[in-house]
Amino acid sequence: MKKIYLTKPFFDDDEFNAVRETLESGWVAGQGPKGIKLSEAVRNYINVEYAVPVVNCTAGLHLALLTLGIKKGDEVLVSDFTFPATGHAVMFCGAKPVFVDVCLDTYNMNPDKIESKITEKTKAIIVVHCFGQVADMDRITATAERYNLKIIEDAACSLGAKYKGKNAGNFSDIAAFSFHARKNVTSGEGGIVTTDNKEYADILSSLSCFGMESAFKRQQNFKIPTFDLPGYNYKLSDINAAIAIEQLKKYPRLLEKKRLLVRKYNELLQNNEFVKIPVVAENNLHVYQTYAVGLNPEIDRNKIIISLREDNIQTQIGMYASHILPVYKSSDKCPDSLYLFLHTLALPLYYELEIEDVEVVVERLNVHINKQLTK
Ligand SMILES: Cc1ncc(COP(=O)(O)O)c(C=O)c1O
Repeated sequence: MKKIYLTKPFFDDDEFNAVRETLESGWVAGQGPKGIKLSEAVRNYINVEYAVPVVNCTAGLHLALLTLGIKKGDEVLVSDFTFPATGHAVMFCGAKPVFVDVCLDTYNMNPDKIESKITEKTKAIIVVHCFGQVADMDRITATAERYNLKIIEDAACSLGAKYKGKNAGNFSDIAAFSFHARKNVTSGEGGIVTTDNKEYADILSSLSCFGMESAFKRQQNFKIPTFDLPGYNYKLSDINAAIAIEQLKKYPRLLEKKRLLVRKYNELLQNNEFVKIPVVAENNLHVYQTYAVGLNPEIDRNKIIISLREDNIQTQIGMYASHILPVYKSSDKCPDSLYLFLHTLALPLYYELEIEDVEVVVERLNVHINKQLTK
């Protein structure tokens, strides 16, 4: 059987030529001319004032927390159902991630579960826009404002996603996006942090580059840096930035194809009593970084993944339930996130996947579900 991947990035001559041009230009370090171009392209695309390219979204989240002054002894509320980078970033600052349960239908932070987790140590909320769908930001923002909490969007999967017509990245003090290989716009590894606040932008930029201005900017104006902050080296290389720029240009086309495939999955699965298709909340434009379905709990999800692998079809669990991971030593309870961790299944979705492939995936999924039920 033909190999069907979970995901596969799509590159063509645009990216190959852009890399060649960058290599030939002599500027391959971080935050050079391509980094500046990428920043401009992302700012225009999502309508924010400042955007700092970084090595990955995890680094972006780390910088966002530091910029907002998060430190040892602070607590930060985090959507439980996420990739552990979100909770890890809080730990990097010596602060404690406190996990908030999510909604079973959208997989996003449950606004009803936030208030009970707030203590006098709580300083911020990291809202994850899970799989490419913006969380219920009206209600989350209202709670954050009531308790004077900063908001960070973990928009790793959500470039271009919208809520009430506004792009992800516009609902927080600082947002972080990923260009990892599994994301809709990829540079292999990479990310970008965005904000509308000039002061935050300056700190983000400095912290991403050892606590000084990038070499490219310093080249234009001779000035010996003073190193006011113990910054990191989180700069995105211009080679990666060149790829991300080209990906962003073709993103509408990539997204259109994904939407076509999602419509097919939905059509084939919507009446299946053992499979729950993803819910798109009102007022949301989903960008489907991942198409994750919920399997009925009587189905062994892990065995389905193994059986599909034998058919040459790659699938994956949805996300992790952070609160159960030993690294966090958490006593939080997030039953709905735990349920999703156990029962969600990410199905293949990428530009070069064809409608016939979707039909094969669904057909094989049904075969394995029926096999389990008749045992
Ligand atoms: C929700 C979420 N946050 C953060 C990350 C980390 O992104 P990166 O790999 O760019 O560091 C990921 C990556 O999978 C993610 O899904």
